Parts: sequence; structure tokens; C-alpha cells
Amino acid sequence: MEKMIVKPVSEMCGSVKISGSKNATLPILMASILSGDKCTFTNVPDLWDVSTTLKLLSDIGAQVERSGHKVTIDSEEVNHLEAPYELVKTMRASVLVMGPLLARFNQAKVSLPGGCAIGARPVDQHIKGLQKLGAVIDISHGYIKARAKRLRGARIVFDMPTVGGTENVVMAAVLAEGVSVLENCALEPEVVDLMDMLNAMGAKISGQGTSTVVIEGVDSLKPLKYEIIPDRIEAGTLMCAAALTGGDVLLEGARADHLSAVIDKLREMGVTVEEKENGLRVARKERLQPIKISTGPYPGFPTDMQAQFCVLAAVADGQSKITETIFENRYMHVAELQRMGADIVIDGRTAHIKGVKKLQGAQVMATDLRASASLILAGLVAEGYTDVLRIYHLDRGYEKLEKKLRKLGANIRRMPGGKH
Ligand code: UD1
Repeated sequence: MEKMIVKPVSEMCGSVKISGSKNATLPILMASILSGDKCTFTNVPDLWDVSTTLKLLSDIGAQVERSGHKVTIDSEEVNHLEAPYELVKTMRASVLVMGPLLARFNQAKVSLPGGCAIGARPVDQHIKGLQKLGAVIDISHGYIKARAKRLRGARIVFDMPTVGGTENVVMAAVLAEGVSVLENCALEPEVVDLMDMLNAMGAKISGQGTSTVVIEGVDSLKPLKYEIIPDRIEAGTLMCAAALTGGDVLLEGARADHLSAVIDKLREMGVTVEEKENGLRVARKERLQPIKISTGPYPGFPTDMQAQFCVLAAVADGQSKITETIFENRYMHVAELQRMGADIVIDGRTAHIKGVKKLQGAQVMATDLRASASLILAGLVAEGYTDVLRIYHLDRGYEKLEKKLRKLGANIRRMPGGKH
């Protein structure tokens, strides 16, 4: 298993291009099945989760071509309507194949995702929504089996704004007969990107980006070419790198409109964030100020940025308070940050963080995707060197993060890590 060795850097400077969004790409690739034809996507990030999705699509019978950041999927011959446990266990988002398969073929069989490192993460809202559209769902032997004669439009009220749940049900409803009204939908930019892509394929969706989405079912969808939006979480992570090291960086393509909550909190901490024509400039001179943050569904502060802000708070000048409201077990990076000298006390869902002047480099273990990124960030400002083990989590969702950090001046190397 590979590891990352990070040494401290005094300032990070320069510019890097933000890659395409992982969380937009995964559902959009799945949605290509709905066309039964050839769809081409650009700005597709080079990530393990994307490779897993393409493997899933190819396993079910799609023809997949990938060249750099361009992916073409021909779903005409899809005939194997199942996502097996082996794929779902490596990537929970595999469950997003259920909506499109059910919509196009009236049946799907998908392994039930188990819990994951950051919490239980049930899929009851996906199932409830598909049932409302007329699917008969049988859960047995660890699989969700869904069948329908023909999906029919319905009114669905989600119990909470769920990103994956909204996406799965929208992908099913676009080919259903009649009108669906979905309430309490997720508002994340990635959910909106999926709906924009579906409309570009000929779907009739209105209200995307608001909590009520209305979908008029159509009989078929057409092929398309589509460019994926930039990854706001990668951008946010690199913004944190600049803020931590007191650098001055330009993140090409980063969109301020997708990052308002993150930008507001960085500014409260004393970081300069400027919107430029081609991206966002992030710089810091004075010591970081402490912060109060509570994660929430978009446009609230993203849970996917919580771990990175724990690192900022760990070296800020005072006492910060960060509350995680989305996932119940998303503080595993904290134990590792404590090993690096961070002063953090967890009380239920809240982390009380007293800033220290310096972190210390140590051997630390990555436990999930965003936790891995936070440990690398911590390594950028820790004395000595930091060994981040199990970085395969990182490769699931960040495209060559170490190369981007190196381009900005960081001292970071990927090395063989032995058995961990
Ligand atoms: C997506 C993102 C992930 C991000 C998360 C929250 C992708 C591939 N992943 O995950 O990076 O951290 O949104 O912004 O886009 N819930 C239920 N029942 C359900 C579905 C969700 O109880 O059927 C709960 C979850 O346990 C969680 C909350 O709803 O507490 C939000 O989850 P959700 O928005 O669905 O997250 P994901 O789509 O899994």
C-alpha cells in the first residue's frame, strides 16, 4: 500500500487547475444508461471512484471508452441489470445505478450497501422514492431487487435532503409515465448538474436547485455531449492548503457560487479570498482566527470540508467549535490529528478545538477520503515529517492531489508504504 510523506512548507504559491467534480461525475455516468445510446463526457476526473463506475457500466454491458478526461459510454447493449456486492462495497455510489436501470428496463438488482467508516448511511429514502414511483422492492440476501410494470409519476417527500436519494429518484422519474413532484430535494451543485445533464438529454425537469423539483416523464432520452462542473471539494481542500501555509494561490476554474459557505468561513478566519475571472485567489498573512462551524445540507457548510477545517482550527489563534450534523461518525481524523499535537476534545457531534502554535509530524493513518486530505494538510504545517498511510482512500476522490500540491510548492512524495 502506498503512503504519502509530507514535509512542512512556509508558503504555497502559484496556480493549479481544479479537476471535474467526483460527486457530479458518478451519477451523470450512471444516467447515461437512460439514453440507450452514445454519450460523451468531458472534464471527467481521473479517480478510482470513476474507474469503479466505468467498470460497473461495462459489467452491465455498456461500451466504455476513456481517453484522458474524456469518457464515452454507449449503453445500447446494456443487458445485465445487476450491481454486485464486490462493486458496491468499494463504492457506495454504485447504488445510483438502480434508478436508471429501473427506468429503462423496469428492473434492477443492486447489492445493499453496508455501513461505512463515516456512519450507517442507509438508502431507505432511495427505496421509498422508487416505491412511490410504482416499483415493487424486495430486499433479501443482501440485495435490493426492484421491479415495475411501468414507473408512474408520484409525489415524493424526502424525510431529509439526501444527495444520492434525490439523484436516484430523479433518474427513475424522468422516464416514468406522468408527472412527479419531489419535495425536500437536495440542493447540492452536483444534484443540479445531474438534472441539467438530464434536461440536455431531453428530460423535462424544473425547479432544480430548489427543494421542490417537478418532472414530467418523457418516453425516451437522447445522446449528448456534456462537460462536468469543477470539484468544489477539491477546490475547498486546496483553499485550506493555501490558508494553512500562508500562501497565495490561484485555483483555476474554482466557482465561488458553489463555495459560498466555505469562502465565508475562510474570510472569518482572516483568509483573503478573491473572485478572479478564471478562478479563486486565496491568500493569508496574519495568524488564522478561530471559528464556529456547523455542517449542513447545501447551501450550508459541506460535511466534506469538515475534516480540513479541523486542521485550520487546530493551528488557529484561539478556541474553535465544529459541529458535524450530517454523518454520525465523521471524526476519525481527530485521533490522528491529536497524535500530531492537536488539542481537540470531542463531545458528541461537536469538536472543541484549541489552536496550538505548531503541529508535529507523525505516522498517521487515513480512514476515509476527506480524513486523508486533512492529514496531508496537517503535514504541510507540521514540524518534521508526516507519513500518511493508507492513501488509497485519497485516490478514490482526489485527482493527483500530491502533484497539485507540489505545483504550489509543497514538499510531498508518494512512496511504497508496505503492509498497513
Ligand atoms: C453524498 C456525497 C458525499 C457527501 C454527502 C453529504 C456523493 C457520491 N457523495 O453522499 O460526498 O458527504 O452527499 O453531502 O455524492 N440518509 C438516510 N437515508 C437515505 C439517504 C441518506 O438516512 O436513504 C442520510 C445519511 O445517512 C446522511 C444524510 O442522509 O446522514 C445525507 O446523506 P446523503 O446526502 O444521501 O449522502 P450521500 O448521497 O451518501
